Amino acid sequence: MPATTSIHGQWTTRLAFILAATGSAVGLGNIWRFPYIAGENGGGAFVLVYLGCILLIGLPVMMAEILLGRRGRQSPINTMSALAREEGLTRAWGMIGWIGVLAGFLILSFYSVVAGWSLSYVFKSGTGGFLGLDADGSESMFGNMLADPEALLAWHTIFMVMTAMVVARGVQSGLEKAVTILMPLLFVMLVVMVGYAMVEGQFLAGLEFLLYPDFSALSANAVLLAMGQAFFTLSLGMGAIMIYGSYLQSDASIARTSAAVVGADTLVAIMAGLAIFPIVLGAGLSAEQGPGLIFVTLPLAFADMPGGLYFGTMFFVLLVFAAWTSAISIIEPAVAFLVENMGLTRVMATAMIAIGAWFLGIGALLSLNVWSDYTLFDMGILDLLDYVTANILLPLGGFLIAIFVGWRMTERSVQSELRLKHPVLYQVWYFLVRFVAPVAILFVFLRAVELI
Ligand code: PHE
Ligand code: NA
Repeated sequence: MPATTSIHGQWTTRLAFILAATGSAVGLGNIWRFPYIAGENGGGAFVLVYLGCILLIGLPVMMAEILLGRRGRQSPINTMSALAREEGLTRAWGMIGWIGVLAGFLILSFYSVVAGWSLSYVFKSGTGGFLGLDADGSESMFGNMLADPEALLAWHTIFMVMTAMVVARGVQSGLEKAVTILMPLLFVMLVVMVGYAMVEGQFLAGLEFLLYPDFSALSANAVLLAMGQAFFTLSLGMGAIMIYGSYLQSDASIARTSAAVVGADTLVAIMAGLAIFPIVLGAGLSAEQGPGLIFVTLPLAFADMPGGLYFGTMFFVLLVFAAWTSAISIIEPAVAFLVENMGLTRVMATAMIAIGAWFLGIGALLSLNVWSDYTLFDMGILDLLDYVTANILLPLGGFLIAIFVGWRMTERSVQSELRLKHPVLYQVWYFLVRFVAPVAILFVFLRAVELI
């Protein structure tokens, strides 16, 4: 008989889970990563492939991850080996958890550096640094920040400490309250930004860029990036959603909560695009400027917006909070594992993971300046960490999860946890998990390495 609660705690309500999972999902992935990757890959066609991946792979895999977590009620490593044993399978399935812990560790290291940029921009904006800024000034403001390793290190350190402080206290007590306030605020700010873009930017040009599909611009690598972005933005394939699922009440509907989280994340990504591209195109800037996109363009919008000082500051504050509620979920699987298997206290476990990721983050931030000459496949350490995790490790984790739930668990175990009453929806979901998701992931991988 599976346990009905985790030793680490439980969300107080189904809504708390939705907010926490949305807090995990909505982060730098939506507001920083999605717009710049869509911008670099031609916009519309990329966005369409991305939305397809969200619906056909992301949503079903999220449901699978939550059902595994809730059935196992432990860290992803122990959940996977326990569930495998329950089905009479090899405990090697625990490797899904191990891939997740590795991916989380790598993601956190660069995530914290970029969250540090956001922190830095809170203060730049708050001290009036955006006032009277023009396009050149904005570009050099961003460039100067990247060229300063000490400043980057300080912000990275502060963000990592912030993350560790919450996780050390237990996710429910700090996080549950924080996300209840912060997520609606972030949403309101985005609505304001989209409104601003409509009035001040070239909204139709932005809309067209984001939505008009030009498939001739779509390379096999762009399809891989769209799929990787779908995994990254939904926090899938590394156990973050699995462990949040392990804190979910037994009677909550997995299908409905997943749909809410996926819907909210997608809405925020599209809104971020609609807030940013009209301003970029209106200011005559290139949509293809890469990771600096929001850091170069949004300050321009705030520079001459009424109340721009306050809106700009609040926007970057909320960006930090969005990153914060995501970073917490990135460490949680590894922390829970250390508590379960090493008998460490939560505080010790959190400190160990955070310090490890902090060290790796130093490599990432040095790759922006003093180590900028060291590259592999044309990427520095930060870009490489980002690329490998989002486009390889997360889809690989998602692939294995889909195989496990779709092919190795008995359908009876699956149904007894999912309890999706609607027979057609259940059949559609099961088909997506068994066939569509694994085949699509494999196909995109093979295309990307040019085997087929
Ligand atoms: N989903 C988060 C974002 O979009 C990032 C993340 C990835 C969080 C993986 C947890 C796990 O910013
Ligand atoms: Na996201």
